Amino acid sequence: MNKLQFNNNTQMPILGLGTWKSAPGEVYTAVKEAVKMGYRHIDCAAIYGNEKEIGQALSELQQEGVVKREELWITSKLWNNNHGKANVVPALKQTLADLQLEYLDLYLIHWPVAFKHEIPGAKKAEDYLSLEEQPIADTWLGMEEAVKLGLSKNIGVSNFSVLKLKSLMEVASIKPEMNQVELHPYFQQNELVEYCQSNGIHITAYSPLGSSDRPAGLKKEDEPILLEDKNIEAIATQKGVSIAQVILAWVAQRGISVIPKSVNPSRLQQNLNAAEIRLTEDEMQQMAAINKNRRYVDGKFWEVPGGPYTATNVWDE
Ligand SMILES: NC(=O)c1ccc[n+]([C@@H]2O[C@H](COP(=O)([O-])OP(=O)(O)OC[C@H]3O[C@@H](n4cnc5c(N)ncnc54)[C@H](OP(=O)(O)O)[C@@H]3O)[C@@H](O)[C@H]2O)c1
Repeated sequence: MNKLQFNNNTQMPILGLGTWKSAPGEVYTAVKEAVKMGYRHIDCAAIYGNEKEIGQALSELQQEGVVKREELWITSKLWNNNHGKANVVPALKQTLADLQLEYLDLYLIHWPVAFKHEIPGAKKAEDYLSLEEQPIADTWLGMEEAVKLGLSKNIGVSNFSVLKLKSLMEVASIKPEMNQVELHPYFQQNELVEYCQSNGIHITAYSPLGSSDRPAGLKKEDEPILLEDKNIEAIATQKGVSIAQVILAWVAQRGISVIPKSVNPSRLQQNLNAAEIRLTEDEMQQMAAINKNRRYVDGKFWEVPGGPYTATNVWDE
């Protein structure tokens, strides 16, 4: 499998396992099966509420001799109520305790959205802090501290626009090396990809398969269904692979990491195998042509009456 190279010579396997919505009962088995079949990159986050189960699976896999810690790439993310320099390291230490790890390979600021520290689930305007009140630059100092303490090998961000990346690059002593964002054939993110790839920032594509198991409240009635796309289906049929595999291969072939979520053994295997599929130049062009500029995770859930965040100012669009 191809790997993305980081500045400190660490290497991230291009395809990893997503774990959002993987229920505590299911995620333990999914991680154990995934690592046994060859996954070496797991994407986690404190807010997914399942890091303890993932930690149990990772610990057993190491004890059973299936994998060594240094062969794994584990990413996790700082939740919105832990922005601010002083909160980052304690939050990361909790994640490390839950995952039963000494260090992460990559720690990301989950969203450019801050909540008050005592409020993990902000609902009303006064639960939030604007980015003027709680600047990203201050949170980033905590992220840099995490690297200096050896608690994370690499640091980065998630859901950042080009504008927010540029501001962060100006003040960062340790540059962000990853931006994890929604990316799939209906939301190809060409401008962001170009900026990141020419500034030494890797990209991870989240919700690459259209995130069909998102909570109903995050869905819209008129949504196009990515996994039913006729053009991708034609490529898949021609190659004798699945629609999901064509999508994952297309992302990886753009030099972008991809983290499909599954808790189903045959889909886990199918997704892993996709990292070895090559699309022709013509197929890559056909995929490029189906962009709809359509987000599934639209950021509108951060909008509350009188609050500091809107989908427009989160994405800077
Ligand atoms: N940074 C962020 O803000 C952010 C936001 C969203 C997601 N993420 C990360 O990205 C990961 C992936 O995104 P996601 O979970 O939103 O959605 P996704 O990976 O696009 O889609 C997951 C859905 O696709 C199904 N699926 C998986 N493989 C399949 C296949 N080969 N054929 C057909 N269906 C398949 C899964 O069902 P089964 O499980 O039943 O197979 C599940 O219903 C997350 O789990 C999380 O780690 C990060």
